[in-house]
Amino acid sequence: MAKKIVTDLQVEGKKVLVRVDFNVPLKDGVITDDNRIVQALPTIKYLIDHNAKVILFSHLGKVKSEEDKAKLSLRPVAERLSELLEKPVTFVPETRGEKLEAAINALKEGDVLLFENTRFEDLDGKKESKNDPELGKYWASLGDLFVNDAFGTAHRAHASNVGIASNLESAAGFLMEKEIKFIGGAVDNPERPFVAILGGAKVSDKIGVINSLLDKADKVLIGGGMAYTFFKAMGREVGLSLLELDRVELAKEIMEKAGDKLVLPIDNVVAKEFSNDAVATIVDSDAIPADQE
Ligand code: 3PG
Repeated sequence: MAKKIVTDLQVEGKKVLVRVDFNVPLKDGVITDDNRIVQALPTIKYLIDHNAKVILFSHLGKVKSEEDKAKLSLRPVAERLSELLEKPVTFVPETRGEKLEAAINALKEGDVLLFENTRFEDLDGKKESKNDPELGKYWASLGDLFVNDAFGTAHRAHASNVGIASNLESAAGFLMEKEIKFIGGAVDNPERPFVAILGGAKVSDKIGVINSLLDKADKVLIGGGMAYTFFKAMGREVGLSLLELDRVELAKEIMEKAGDKLVLPIDNVVAKEFSNDAVATIVDSDAIPADQE
């Protein structure tokens, strides 16, 4: 099925809402890897060059308390983006309201604005993460067109992607297009042997992908936090590692279906706590100490 992409939209003079994935790693307010910002540049530059008014937004981390807000502002991202674009980027430290609306209305063709972390809305009943219909409608009302370039967030149904897309003419950005093309080719017409490597914290987030890849790949390698839910399902000690207890049965079912297609780590780096200063050792996967993670 042909997908609509940003070049299919008439963006000239329009307020274009762009969902990007600026969920970048930060240490003490400093971006430690700007790759996600760099990857979003082709779509942003295209919109600037075609005289759109560019309104960017993204989530950053998980916002669970008022204190998280101070650590998870997108302001440093706006500064880095401005350096990369070599032009000013207006940062609006709000996710809704008069100030944001006024800043958007003041945009001229080719201007770029970034508003604050969409997950700040999660402090009020998880409105962003649970795709609150009113929030999606409100954000959609701020623009004329919607471009989704946040491939890294495409597995989430948030107000800032699915919610807006349900209310506005939408298209994929160049990064989204590139990733879909790449993954489509790799999955539908793979060169063999076809080995998929999956990471991430939660089996629950990846179950659909794991099942689909088990049907297509020759081997599926599981890493990251979700490996420990599988180890638990094998009856192993996982210490203080990430674990989804309510998905252990599911992990068992997946392993039965997968047989030797599913490959888990043979060893692990463990420590008493998850910190840069912790003393780490490497242990076999069936020898994780109960007091370590
Ligand atoms: C990611 O970094 O994997 C994406 O930005 C999604 O982030 P999330 O797991 O916090 O939803």
